Amino acid sequence: MGGRVPPQFIDDLINRVDIVDVINRRVPLKRTGKEYQARCPFHDEKTPSFTVSSEKQFYHCFGCGAHGSAIGFLMDYDNLDFVDAIEELAGLVGIEVPREAGFQQGPDLRPLYTLLEQAAGFFQRQLREHPQAEEAVNYLKGRGLSGEIAAGFGMGYAPPGWDNLLKALGNTDLAISQLREAGLISEPETDKRYDRFRNRIIFPIRDQRGRVIGFGGRVLSEADSPKYLNSPETPVFHKGRELYGLYEARKALRKIERLLVVEGYMDVVALAQFGIRNSVATLGTATSKEHLELIFRTCPQVVFCFDGDRAGRDAAWKALQTSLPVMRDGREARFLFLPEGEDPDTLVRREGTENFQRRIDDAPPLSQFLFDHLSAQVRMDSIDGRANLAERAKPLLGKIPQGVFRRMLFQHLEKLVGIDSISLDKTKFTNRQTARSGSEYKKPRPTPIRMAIALLLDRPSLVTTADEIDDHWTKWDTPGIPFLRQLLEIIRSHPTLNKAALLERWRGTPEFPHLNKLANYRFDIPGLDPEAELKDALRKLNQQYMKQSAPILGNLKPSELSAETLAQLKQRFPGSHEPEKQ
Ligand code: UTP
Ligand code: MN
Repeated sequence: MGGRVPPQFIDDLINRVDIVDVINRRVPLKRTGKEYQARCPFHDEKTPSFTVSSEKQFYHCFGCGAHGSAIGFLMDYDNLDFVDAIEELAGLVGIEVPREAGFQQGPDLRPLYTLLEQAAGFFQRQLREHPQAEEAVNYLKGRGLSGEIAAGFGMGYAPPGWDNLLKALGNTDLAISQLREAGLISEPETDKRYDRFRNRIIFPIRDQRGRVIGFGGRVLSEADSPKYLNSPETPVFHKGRELYGLYEARKALRKIERLLVVEGYMDVVALAQFGIRNSVATLGTATSKEHLELIFRTCPQVVFCFDGDRAGRDAAWKALQTSLPVMRDGREARFLFLPEGEDPDTLVRREGTENFQRRIDDAPPLSQFLFDHLSAQVRMDSIDGRANLAERAKPLLGKIPQGVFRRMLFQHLEKLVGIDSISLDKTKFTNRQTARSGSEYKKPRPTPIRMAIALLLDRPSLVTTADEIDDHWTKWDTPGIPFLRQLLEIIRSHPTLNKAALLERWRGTPEFPHLNKLANYRFDIPGLDPEAELKDALRKLNQQYMKQSAPILGNLKPSELSAETLAQLKQRFPGSHEPEKQ
């Protein structure tokens, strides 16, 4: 989206907003010494490893590695995009987000949201007022829905006819172009246009903030097709990212313990009718990684609900594969298979809330589905079969993030096939790496260039230490060096920038993902001297530079160099020491 936001504005925003305040409103924080603490909102944990630093205006979780500025927090926790996150922060401190030229933040989507809201209102009114509304009302009643539930989901009616909505909302050229952008009209030819949704029950689709972003429409008679028609992708509607019913679930429940993923709009609404308010539906697409991240931001457990038939099993296996990379510790996925020919709507109606709820409670966990599914494909009574199982399982388990859950699955696999775990999970972290912080996410020691960048990002005041070291490395033409130079320049010219503001300077650039990873390093570890570490890293850079710029000399010790080469070296690195002894 758009170009870059003026960096001064972001600096200013981060300066004025207090991240402690922003987070504390969402996750109550406790003060502990210089920092604030809480149980991490991004993974499930018993003891707090989530810390917020007022000085750095940065948060960091030792447990799962989540970290970032106030902007990053809002993007992850409230699931906002960048522009919405800065709007939210700017609103908090009462400043205007600049909109002059140069600040390209993408098109202003507010008119689109307004129009979609108006359309939703129009459809709802038709359900109450249209002369033919009785047919729609009877249809909904026939499916067991109360007026209250229908209203809660904002359900409506697109009456028969080609241009009901066009007449109501499309009175000007501007309005027509907005209807077009919202995906509410069809235009087979330039001067031919009509309502997209005609003679259908309307399910408005809301985003997490409750804004209407699109619609699903169901035919009233099974003879018509397609059965469901959905809004096309629009600037505000992205099927792979939205979950039908999530907003309604959040509104109905104070705390969501788990979310049930079902297939259809009707399933969500019918379950709600039976008091099961925690279900969401994907919009005719497979469950995506974005869907899962959204779910796990809301609650720690997901229960996928599938048909028991072949297609359902296949879809479930796909969902399992999508889930593996997001199964951090504390997250749980279960797989509920319904009797053939049933969907949640028909089943809850037939057997009632309690029985359906029991099915949810008893749904097999991911691990069971995974091993059952794989075991069914091999002969477990032969060595070859068990080896085959190991071969099939390894790449799948390898997708799970490091942690207790992953270890337990590998251990289970070992038991199943009778092999030692070390050989199965080659990437298992060594004890040394995990011992210091107790964290599974502890990174191996970075290279000198990364170390220098990470240190300066974490503690910009170290710039003075950096300036004490010879700057030969700045001439080195190798990845990372120009970045480190730029970082130092920015810190020198803006000495008040903290970690958060520095990091935000690069958001949206190709460097951001790398820098963001380095932002995960922390240096407040007992016994670690950040100044010494930085000096050491820069000295190593100097050495590496010298070595590679004089490759023939690389393996020689100074004593083995001829007087002539030594003189050359000195010329190339004026004022430097001779290459240090290793
Ligand atoms: P289903 O065909 O399983 O419908 O589609 P359903 O939810 O059981 O609907 P009812 O009970 O007959 O009313 C599941 C989902 O797949 C998408 C819709 O999102 C629907 O809710 N779908 C289905 C479409 O987008 N288009 C279609 O023609 C059919
Ligand atoms: Mn159905």
